[in-house]
Amino acid sequence: MELSTIESHDIGTAPEHQPVPAGAAKKVFVKTYGCQMNVYDSQRMTDALAAEGYVATDAVEDADLVLLNTCHIREKAAEKVYSELGRIRDMKAERAETGRELLIGVAGCVAQAEGAEIIRRAPAVDLVIGPQTYHRLPDVLARVRGGQKIVETDYAIEDKFEHLPQPKRAEVAKRGVTAFLTVQEGCDKFCTFCVVPYTRGSEVSRPVAQIVAEAERLAEAGVREVTLLGQNVNAWHGEGENGGEWGLGRLLLRLAKIPGLARLRYTTSHPRDMDDELIAAHRDLPALMPYLHLPVQSGSDRILKAMNRRHTARDYLTLIDRIRAARGDIAMSGDFIVGFPGETDADFEATLKLVRNVSYASAFTFKYSPRPGTPGAEMDGHVSEAVKDERLQRLQALVNEQQQGFIAGMVGRTISTLIEKPGRRPGQKVGRSPWLQPVIVDDKAGGIGDIIDVRITKTGPNSLFAELA
Ligand code: 5AD
Ligand code: SF4
Repeated sequence: MELSTIESHDIGTAPEHQPVPAGAAKKVFVKTYGCQMNVYDSQRMTDALAAEGYVATDAVEDADLVLLNTCHIREKAAEKVYSELGRIRDMKAERAETGRELLIGVAGCVAQAEGAEIIRRAPAVDLVIGPQTYHRLPDVLARVRGGQKIVETDYAIEDKFEHLPQPKRAEVAKRGVTAFLTVQEGCDKFCTFCVVPYTRGSEVSRPVAQIVAEAERLAEAGVREVTLLGQNVNAWHGEGENGGEWGLGRLLLRLAKIPGLARLRYTTSHPRDMDDELIAAHRDLPALMPYLHLPVQSGSDRILKAMNRRHTARDYLTLIDRIRAARGDIAMSGDFIVGFPGETDADFEATLKLVRNVSYASAFTFKYSPRPGTPGAEMDGHVSEAVKDERLQRLQALVNEQQQGFIAGMVGRTISTLIEKPGRRPGQKVGRSPWLQPVIVDDKAGGIGDIIDVRITKTGPNSLFAELA
């Protein structure tokens, strides 16, 4: 399952050992929409393009190739892409007058879902490439330069991860001391509101050796914290190093042995796949951070059934009790949808009750948006926008209160912090708490990559201020 709604763009650089002749370097601008899996994919596409001599830029005006790595989870995401494409088309038209080329590519889940429709609706687009075929990007570009428009959205039989180049050590170091590592892709759960099983395909787990090798490379380049990614990350499974089947818990134990890797996280999980071994890992592994994103979507059993979640509200609460028994300081995060077809006031009240019951450190709340091709879109009893709005506001007020309460409760506590980067103000550095909040500390408190104990002195809306403990 997908995650929050970060929007970022990703910047890479030319490979240091492969200098591009002066004047010949092409520049690529990558804009990433949607979940962390797209952030990871954008980095890997940047790496693949670097091998072709492309230098990444964060200035769209400088680019010879603009790649939008899109998200299809909710309606507005695709609309945003089309309006962005409108702006880039205008740039391409201006560029044509100067004789300098601008290629436009659409990647990600909108690319997968819409395919050739994108080129019909936005004819300035040169290439459309789905999430399973990024390793073919260099070849696709060569064909585009030959004058073709390319739509490449099949589910490739070869493993894209085996074919995508690994980033250079210096590139990893430049990206910082925290990193994403995709271990699983796709989803077989078919929640009735969700497009992911259609855009990302069925569940595939990367093999243990590939994951361990990538994590080792990250650690060697100075990465201290790795977040394992998957739409259904806790459905990951694979053949263990000495035979036998491993689940995610076992994989985490293995990764925790890699020198330098001090912190591990994973996201996003489905409640049905939280097995005993994974829960035990939360108890036994200090490196596994005490923060778990475990979407439930609704607190009403009727709605959960209509959503095909295959668990009840009680199942979810019991699971959380077990996880909290394993790791007392674990903070919970979740996703919620309001206004799923057929949701009554009583159903919505059940969601509020569940939220009060769990008490979340953070939560993402969404209004149901019908996605074409999903069973939910065809159901009766669609809820009016006005009712969705009202429910969203009430739910947000409740989760904001819980979030603020969680942060306020940190004042006076001593916590470990991974120093990540210089702060926005001189004399400050920014770290990350075990529960993902930014921690603002004095510049001299530690170097980037250090994990230090700090005492929280005060809080901002979503950040912590701290002094050396
Ligand atoms: N409408 C609204 N929210 C959705 N999500 C997924 N599909 C939809 C949809 N059709 C939400 C779910 C999921 C999160 C990433 O996005 O809460 O967990
Ligand atoms: Fe997550 Fe359900 Fe969508 Fe799968 S179908 S990605 S479990 S929300």
